[in-house]
Amino acid sequence: MSQNYQTSILFGENSVSQAVSLLQKGECVALPTETVYGLAADASDIIAVNKIFEAKGRPKNHPLIVHIPDVSHLENWAKSIPNTAYNLAKQFWPGPLSLLLKKADHVPYEVTGGLDTIALRVPAHPLFLEVLTQLNVGLAAPSANRYKQLSPTIAEQVMQGLDGRIAAVLDGGSCEHGLESTILDLVSETPRILRSGPITQQQLETAMGQIINTPKNHIEVVPGNVEAHYQPNTPLRIMSSKQLLIEIDRLKHTDCHFVVWSDAVIQQSKKTHAPSSQCSYLGNDAANYGRKLYVTLYQVDQTRPTQIIVEQPPQSDAWAAVNDRLSRAAQ
Ligand code: TXA
Ligand code: MG
Repeated sequence: MSQNYQTSILFGENSVSQAVSLLQKGECVALPTETVYGLAADASDIIAVNKIFEAKGRPKNHPLIVHIPDVSHLENWAKSIPNTAYNLAKQFWPGPLSLLLKKADHVPYEVTGGLDTIALRVPAHPLFLEVLTQLNVGLAAPSANRYKQLSPTIAEQVMQGLDGRIAAVLDGGSCEHGLESTILDLVSETPRILRSGPITQQQLETAMGQIINTPKNHIEVVPGNVEAHYQPNTPLRIMSSKQLLIEIDRLKHTDCHFVVWSDAVIQQSKKTHAPSSQCSYLGNDAANYGRKLYVTLYQVDQTRPTQIIVEQPPQSDAWAAVNDRLSRAAQ
């Protein structure tokens, strides 16, 4: 049913107005954000929202994030909003922080997967913001991938998953952060991070002047927050630097691919004459690594290796989002 579209790639002059006009007609359009590409639809139009679930093959009880043009729209979607939400918005919006609040009564349960809470954010990508400003509505937008696949960070990757299933993709180049937004729950008694992202726990604690929880295992299972997620097609394993060096030596010149970050491993792999085409070096800066992670996995996946072996990154706050996505990709 959802395979009926001639999906257009919108680029350059008039591309924003074309995206706006399709969204006004109740269609889904993939739009670039500063995190990953999102599959957007008018959040107050239930038929349009249902098209998102259909195009992605996403279960209906998985809640969507609603993107708003600015903080003044918060009251249109949420109620009993604490002051901390406004403080955080001032500091981090537009940007990669989704705030979980109590949903306003009129918000359709189709958007929130049947929950009484709603995740909201103002995205920072100029094209997405332009679309939002012109429409002056809320846009529901999950990552623009088929269910359980990698989130796209370039338009080409959106097309790979959704060509023929959506009206259009607005090409805005590659995404700045490359990993999905941090989700902060402001409804629970102590604020807690439901998904690590570009805004770190430390940044949030400094901004709020209080401790925040980051539950390792969600006690309350949020649909959509399943462990296996963000997956490439190729089996992926994570290994310590030491183990990885042994494996590189053993598996060089095979169809196995290595994703490494440390200088030590890259130097050593050169010494053992592992072909450079077998290694992706993402470096030791967490933000840069995050930006390149999904696109690297996507590109490596296209070469159909037998497995992808990833060097375990450091276990610090700055690497929390990367480690979270890697552990899910390895399920
Ligand atoms: O960076 C992002 O957040 C991207 C861009 C497009 O904005 N969006 C994104 O959406 O990653 P999605 O749907 O792929 O992931 C949203 C996550 C899901 O795991 C969902 O369960 C959680 O947010 N979520 C949304 N609303 C929620 C709610 N009311 N309660 C708990 N979790 C919620
Ligand atoms: Mg997603």
